[in-house]
Amino acid sequence: MTAHAHPATVPAIDQRTLRDAFGAFPSGVVAVAASVKGQLTGIAASSFTSVSIDPALVSFSISTTSSTWPLLREAEHLGISVLADHHDAVCRQLAGPREERFAGLPFKVTGNGAVLLDEAVATYDCSLHEEVVAGDHVIVLLEVHEVGAGDGEHPLVFHRSAFAKLHRDDLDPARLDGRINGAEVDRGAADPGSAGSRDDAEDAA
Ligand SMILES: Cc1cc2nc3c(=O)[nH]c(=O)nc-3n(C[C@H](O)[C@H](O)[C@H](O)COP(=O)(O)O)c2cc1C
Repeated sequence: MTAHAHPATVPAIDQRTLRDAFGAFPSGVVAVAASVKGQLTGIAASSFTSVSIDPALVSFSISTTSSTWPLLREAEHLGISVLADHHDAVCRQLAGPREERFAGLPFKVTGNGAVLLDEAVATYDCSLHEEVVAGDHVIVLLEVHEVGAGDGEHPLVFHRSAFAKLHRDDLDPARLDGRINGAEVDRGAADPGSAGSRDDAEDAA
């Protein structure tokens, strides 16, 4: 694919405007963490996304100015933990001063050094596949070796620089006209997550 330079007449987008536009896209947040050379190291990242099924690949982007990535990229394996909706303080801690990021956090370290947080929505045990420099960030592609499903925790949502919880009542059959995407919905069927889901929606900011 060819990259096209902007004609000189197109004004650069104001950085604040661009940040606000990027922040309009909601995401989850993950902890990317490992024990490297005996040192716990990691960050919080909202740029995580799934990439490929075969081979199993995920990605996140990290700033080229990161002081953590030069060490973290040396890890034999890296752990990805999808943060749960009670992990808002954990997220701030993982984005804060490096020496305090893991203080008091419950986690386990795999035999290959991946650090996986307890009570995560899901975990991925990964190794570095490829790095692609993209402007002021590096797109980090990780190969997934093992996944953990979690215990049904709900995810932390990051949107417009704030944390939120999912409103999970969208698919409550009682509020639909009996069909989803043209398919009949059994209004009497018990949805395994629905009771807790409504509570979550009420709690959400
Ligand atoms: C919700 C949230 C999402 C973040 N997502 C990213 C991200 O995707 N990429 C990134 O480089 N930094 C991200 N950060 C910042 C890092 O967690 C961390 O603060 C930063 O990398 C610290 O600098 P260091 O890498 O020099 O230690 C995020 C921070 C927060 C609070």
